Amino acid sequence: MTEMYAEQTKQQFEGWEEFYNQSVDDKLEMFNRKGRIFDVIYAQQFNRPFLDQLGRLADFIRQLAKTKMGSQKLRTLLAHKRAMLYFVQPSTRTFLSFQNACYILGLNVSEIRGTSTSSEVKGESPEDTIRTFASYVDLIISRHPEAGFAEKTAWVLNQSDHPAPVLNGGSGPDQHPTQALLDIYTLEREFHNIGGLDGKRIAMVGDLKRGRTVRSLSYLMKNYRDVELIFVSPEEFRMRNDILDFLRRQEIPFKETDDFESIMPAVDAIYMTRIQNEYASDPKSEAETFPDFHFKAEHLQRIHAHCAILHPLPRRYEIDIAVDSDPRAAYWRQERCGMWIRAALIAYIFGVDDEIVSEFD
Ligand code: CP
Repeated sequence: MTEMYAEQTKQQFEGWEEFYNQSVDDKLEMFNRKGRIFDVIYAQQFNRPFLDQLGRLADFIRQLAKTKMGSQKLRTLLAHKRAMLYFVQPSTRTFLSFQNACYILGLNVSEIRGTSTSSEVKGESPEDTIRTFASYVDLIISRHPEAGFAEKTAWVLNQSDHPAPVLNGGSGPDQHPTQALLDIYTLEREFHNIGGLDGKRIAMVGDLKRGRTVRSLSYLMKNYRDVELIFVSPEEFRMRNDILDFLRRQEIPFKETDDFESIMPAVDAIYMTRIQNEYASDPKSEAETFPDFHFKAEHLQRIHAHCAILHPLPRRYEIDIAVDSDPRAAYWRQERCGMWIRAALIAYIFGVDDEIVSEFD
């Protein structure tokens, strides 16, 4: 571990607290430019036309990428752009899928994977660090342990004379909006032959209190007709009230239970999550694995023939590895969907989406 030469400098930005404390709906316009999404901070930024457009774009990109000629075409689209991956909270999938999404579109990529390897060790503030990235690159993708970090980054850069779009790759236990994009894209593909996500009943299982993926995915449900959610968790990890209140306001039916087995035959998708003990004050004190909330091989006979089993991964013991070979186990496909939908998002952010679509006209 590199020695910290000084505590990180704390900077007060006039107007930030006032902005941060506004309702999300009031803030969203700040993250748009010329009628398009510029920064991706919240799942609430995505509406149905956008989700449908992005899914279609991801399908086109993966189709083009199958051939040498198509791949070459894709790589020319953003060969003049550079991206920064600032991932100071551990990540495998989000980091690699964004990195490879950049490669697919020809972007050059720089990375910082821990504050111990940046000048933050010398006491530089996170805000100055981010402004430095914007001096060199055209896109910043961040993963950070603090809730609100990506939003502050976008806000600070939007006040500067050299803003770069910011994509939130996970900010504390708060939100993971691009994971929600890939989850929706996966669900729509899994249900392709049975009418898509509209009208489906989805169980979310595990640590719903601290799982940012289930929070972001819940927000996106407002875009789909007749969806119903079932939250399955131990008492101490129940979904937080802000999400439940949101669902009530949107008139999205939901119920909560701790009886996982009883709801299995009733759902179209099961979204498993692990216990997020990295947010406990003492992670080692949370060694309990909650086996009643694990999906085991014998459960395969309890679920629908079309039921999709998802997990944002990484998993621990939530899904028995014997489940992996069942065609309903969608989590490895889901992981790959992340790369294609993130490539689609980057193409959209830089406005080269039409060029991709035109290949199929
Ligand atoms: N799903 C997800 O965010 O995985 P990583 O933490 O590996 O990026």
